[in-house]
Amino acid sequence: MQHGSLWQWLDARVGLAEVEQLAQKKEVPVHRHTVWYYVGGMTLFLFLVQVTTGMLLLFYYRPSAEEAYESVQFLMTAVQFGWLIRSLHAWAANVMIFMVFVHLFSTLLLKAYRPPRELTWCTGVVLLGVSLAFGFTGYLLPWNTLAYFATRVGTAIVAVLPVVGPFMLRLLRGGQEVTGATLTRFFAIHVAILPLLTFLCLVLHLFLVQKHGMSVPRGVEQRGGTTRTMPFVPHFLLRDLIGWLSALAVLAVLAAFFPTELGQKADPFAPAPAGIKPEWYFMFMFQTLKYLPSHILGLEGDIVGILGFGVAGLFLLLVPFLDRRAARGQSSSVFTLIGLAMVIYMLLLTYLGYTMSPTQ
Ligand code: HEM
Repeated sequence: MQHGSLWQWLDARVGLAEVEQLAQKKEVPVHRHTVWYYVGGMTLFLFLVQVTTGMLLLFYYRPSAEEAYESVQFLMTAVQFGWLIRSLHAWAANVMIFMVFVHLFSTLLLKAYRPPRELTWCTGVVLLGVSLAFGFTGYLLPWNTLAYFATRVGTAIVAVLPVVGPFMLRLLRGGQEVTGATLTRFFAIHVAILPLLTFLCLVLHLFLVQKHGMSVPRGVEQRGGTTRTMPFVPHFLLRDLIGWLSALAVLAVLAAFFPTELGQKADPFAPAPAGIKPEWYFMFMFQTLKYLPSHILGLEGDIVGILGFGVAGLFLLLVPFLDRRAARGQSSSVFTLIGLAMVIYMLLLTYLGYTMSPTQ
């Protein structure tokens, strides 16, 4: 390709030709599951929306129990387009977490974690944990009634764990109760620790994706349908771009027609409002804990539930190492069934969480 003098100047100093070669080499396999390759890129785009809107929110937000609510109120009412930025941040957070789940289950069901992509998967599971932690910590920041009490319930759950429970509670809350100290902690976690963790994991995740190229599902490989590919630059990237612009349009519509509410300022001395519910992505866990009997095999039901979710998380992390059949290139319907069972379980319990009355 013919390049101008600026390009040549930069190439001599930073090696643009190598980047260009890399971009030209990248190919995306074309088959009936190609659509799932767009989900990771969409998640990445939504994460960038979060970083951008989050930084803008920081211009006005104040992380203390005395000022947090008022600073958000000011942003929503007096700052030009402040309501839009806040609503975009809240909506994109929800859509991003939804996309992370879609990405996880699509790579699980297509067995994209087979060797040599085990670590791509593991860094992905950490990114899922980090995304959920972003949601949990961000929710408290406006310091409104709902967020305050949801955080009280959410942090109280870890306290039931034997040995480490009381310590974890104090670590999270910065004391025994949810106070301004909790808010300061959640703020630090939300704007410093989690972004750094995400950045590190994401760099590794994307490096590994780049190194190994896109995986081709076993079924497609067997049918000999792997030969067709599409250049990443510009064909796939332009399709990605259409998706991102459409996502931005959808987010703008959601933010404009359903702006995020602020509610009442949190009052730690007021009684908890009835029917406190967590964010939708925690609902299946919350609802599971409700259904567990008070004692299971001599242990408290909640403890069994929380340990159960811990084991499930560990299982998810280790899937590439447990699914030996997939690693050998054989079909592994057990893991397909486990994946499907997880999706159905999560959907069902989320549905029950929203339809059952608070006492059930
Ligand atoms: C912030 C969250 C995440 C971002 C931004 C992200 C981003 C991406 C991108 C851009 C790709 C390449 C395109 C694609 O395959 O869709 C990818 C691939 C991949 N991701 Fe993620 N990801 C995230 C979370 C996860 C999670 C939670 C998992 C699963 C536990 C995961 C597992 C994988 C795997 C196995 C691949 C390789 C797919 C293949 O080669 O076919 N990722 N990711």
